[in-house]
Amino acid sequence: MENILKDRKYCIVTFGCQMNEHDSEIIAGMLEEYGAYAVEHEEADIILLNTCSVRENADKRFFGTLGQLKKRKQENENLIVCVCGCMMQQQHIIDTLKEKYPWVDVIFGTHNIHNFPGILTRVITEKQKMIEIWEDGGEIAEGLPSKRLYKHKSFVNIMYGCNNFCTYCIVPYTRGRERSRNPEDIVREVRELAADGVKEITLLGQNVNSYRAKDTDFTDLIYLLNDISGIERIRFMTSHPKDLSDRLIQAFADCQKLCKSIHLPVQSGSSEILRRMNRRYTKEDYLRLVEKIRSAVPDIAITTDIIVGFPGETEEDFAETLDLCRKVQYDSAFTFLYSIRKGTPAEKYEDQIPEEEKHRRFNELVDLINESSARKNEAYVGRIEKVLVDGPSKTRDNVLTGRTDSFKLVNFEGDDELIGTIVDIEITSANTFSLMGKRV
Ligand code: 5AD
Ligand code: SF4
Repeated sequence: MENILKDRKYCIVTFGCQMNEHDSEIIAGMLEEYGAYAVEHEEADIILLNTCSVRENADKRFFGTLGQLKKRKQENENLIVCVCGCMMQQQHIIDTLKEKYPWVDVIFGTHNIHNFPGILTRVITEKQKMIEIWEDGGEIAEGLPSKRLYKHKSFVNIMYGCNNFCTYCIVPYTRGRERSRNPEDIVREVRELAADGVKEITLLGQNVNSYRAKDTDFTDLIYLLNDISGIERIRFMTSHPKDLSDRLIQAFADCQKLCKSIHLPVQSGSSEILRRMNRRYTKEDYLRLVEKIRSAVPDIAITTDIIVGFPGETEEDFAETLDLCRKVQYDSAFTFLYSIRKGTPAEKYEDQIPEEEKHRRFNELVDLINESSARKNEAYVGRIEKVLVDGPSKTRDNVLTGRTDSFKLVNFEGDDELIGTIVDIEITSANTFSLMGKRV
């Protein structure tokens, strides 16, 4: 068949998490294999919106952006408007799109991104619209190309989906059940990345700790990847506290490349709220886990996700969250206002918290987190840190930005030729969200 995608100009707009970002990298990689190339939004003949459904504001932003495309489509009937990602795995969204957004040409879901070039080809040649959503994952598509944002670092998916069904969360419904990639496929991909100059990999999965394929579990996988030469840093996200094993903690000590930072979403400090969230650990379990991690890996950076205003969260429950944060002293945290998600168990919980109250708690929590972030960063002043240089700072000329092993953002003066290398930086000052330093 004729390659109808050659020289087409595309633009992908990505909402949401690293999983989605990486899916977009794969979609871009596939389109470029067919000879399409990336352009700015205004110049594109193919626009793809890759959606997120984890909170309501992501839905709103998506519909806002889609609304703006109506005019573009009227001006240019050859423009192809495509939508994909988590929102498309929900029937009510598809119904809304069909009813109110007739300028959408292509709809596909999270389980069939590998078919996108084929779908697009048919839509162009047959001049028709197409909706193709798969209900569940099936076989994992291997060997897909990917267009990386950075030359020196890369995401690597190790598993898809989630079996945990936290009561607030839509992900198990939009990403399906857990499926782990074969370790041989992961090792092959990481070897290829290393050969291509990649120094840092971030292993991705909704709950990487429950990775298992054949006899290989997540910790085994870390040991395997630690042996691949060329790779200098290994990160992973996200971990579920209930599944984090002692062996993994030991791996931080054994595997020199495993970076000393961990994202460990707590969601709430109240054991009662955690129970209602179906998180399957208590406040005390979590604090014990943090203690165990810190005593094995003393300078590890710990970050988290916290939801405020879960249905039924009392003032006392919220005080437990503040207390937990004071005890843990997080390096940083993503804080979220609870957002009702259609189809999740918590949607039906009666005692929803008023928006105003959610905001009040949210602000109090953010202030507390910022204090501990600033304190943690302050402790870096005077240290010499190995920094993997990502690129020029967006705000200042001749300033580069990179990350420490513990994932702290560092700005320092230097030339562009340092990009992609690991340099020694003496930290000279700190603020809440970043460090400043100089080369030594
Ligand atoms: N409301 C608010 N925050 C949520 N998250 C997931 N679902 C919701 C929801 N319904 C948050 C959790 C999760 C992060 C990715 O998003 O904290 O860890
Ligand atoms: Fe959602 Fe819980 Fe699964 Fe994370 S572990 S994706 S919060 S259901």
